[in-house]
Amino acid sequence: MPHDAEGRTLRRRLLSFISWPLLVLLGISVVADYRSAVSIAGEAYDSALGSTVVALATRLERDDDDLDIEVDIPPAADEILRSDAVDEVVYVVFDAHDKVVAGDPRLLGLPRPQVANRTILQDALLDRKKVRSASYLYQSERLQATVIVAETTLKRQRAANRILAMTFWPNLLLIASALMLVYFGVRFALKPLDALGHRIAERGSMDFSPLVEADVPGEARPLVRSINRLMGSLDRAGQAQQAFLSNAAHQLRTPLAGLQTQLDLAADALPEEARPRIRHLQDASHRLSHFTHQMLALARSSSEGALISDHRPVDMASLLEEAASDLLDAALAKGIDLGFEAGPVQVEGSRWMLREMLANLIENAIHYTPAGGCVTVRCGRGDDGRVFVEVEDDGPGIPEEERNKVFERFYRVPGTAGAGTGLGLAIVREVADRHGAEVHIGSGAAGGGARIRVDFTT
Ligand SMILES: Nc1ncnc2c1ncn2[C@@H]1O[C@H](COP(=O)(O)OP(=O)(O)O)[C@@H](O)[C@H]1O
Ligand SMILES: [Mg+2]
Repeated sequence: MPHDAEGRTLRRRLLSFISWPLLVLLGISVVADYRSAVSIAGEAYDSALGSTVVALATRLERDDDDLDIEVDIPPAADEILRSDAVDEVVYVVFDAHDKVVAGDPRLLGLPRPQVANRTILQDALLDRKKVRSASYLYQSERLQATVIVAETTLKRQRAANRILAMTFWPNLLLIASALMLVYFGVRFALKPLDALGHRIAERGSMDFSPLVEADVPGEARPLVRSINRLMGSLDRAGQAQQAFLSNAAHQLRTPLAGLQTQLDLAADALPEEARPRIRHLQDASHRLSHFTHQMLALARSSSEGALISDHRPVDMASLLEEAASDLLDAALAKGIDLGFEAGPVQVEGSRWMLREMLANLIENAIHYTPAGGCVTVRCGRGDDGRVFVEVEDDGPGIPEEERNKVFERFYRVPGTAGAGTGLGLAIVREVADRHGAEVHIGSGAAGGGARIRVDFTT
């Protein structure tokens, strides 16, 4: 199947309609999970940072009225700042006049709290580096000072990465399983359609029986109904054609037979010198009637109306006997020994078609075998269990390189003597095809002659 048509299958459409939104959902869900996790983790770090700044602020004032914060703050601060192994933590304490009492003066540039006695947390830049800062404006009757603590965001970043990894993989797993479920679900759901396709593909080209609607899903029923309607009309058209052809065959046979009889009678009645002309006429009318018969036989057997449903069990031995006895006169006239070896076998098929086939095979054998020759017709069951029919003669045989061509319509081996239409073996092949049988051309037992064998599959 070309790539284009494959691309338009329902399976693909369904899969892509479902998969792309699922992947987008994966993206959204990972981002959302990540954000909420980061903000929860951030809160924990913020609260630690907030405690630090409050701890420092509470050191600003002691009960003993001694306002010596310059001495008191640094040791306490150092202790806190050293406790962080990951991030760099810096602080500053300054009074109402921006005079740095302790810590790092770079922090003076950071945003300051406007409201007193509350911890303010915000993101800021320190020396172009992202930091998180906590600031506290301490105010009492005796004292106003600001404490700012800032830390780099390394551990926050690490936590965020860990969280990202932790949320990504479960989400991916979830989506992957969902995609897998979708894939198998779609396959499973479309199975009845595949089955319908197979059922149609498996049919013979001549099988016009309606498809069973109950076996297909509701969505496909209108399709099946249309197919059935179409097959119904093909079936009717085929049957009409069949009826026409067999009617035509019948209508032509009667006047042609009449013509022949009249010519025979005339031959007897006319004077001697007119006989050669009459013989030409007799020949021509004989050929005409033979040709007409073969034309119609070929048309009928290859017509769309030649249905499998017409097939019945046919007793091969008796059919062979009938066909052979029709041609017995012709054999006797040439002094040909017509032998008969028929085993009791049956095939499913159309009686008139099979009879046409046998008649053409035997007729050829008698026609092409020189006078005094030997023709044997056989039927039975082969070593492989298949039913076969075979006609063997000891005539000139059919050359190896002609064996494929002789089945073509109107083809005669060049140099073939005698009258003929080239339709006989075409009919044989057509009938064999209609019965799922194989035709094989071989040589006679003694190496010369022709042996044509038809193997039926059932
Ligand atoms: N039994 C046979 N022995 C030799 N040649 C044969 C035999 N059967 C068929 N042929 C060859 O195959 C050709 C095609 O046969 P057929 O289709 O029956 O057409 P036709 O008999 O009208 O020529 C014949 O012209 C003949 O050359
Ligand atoms: Mg022939």
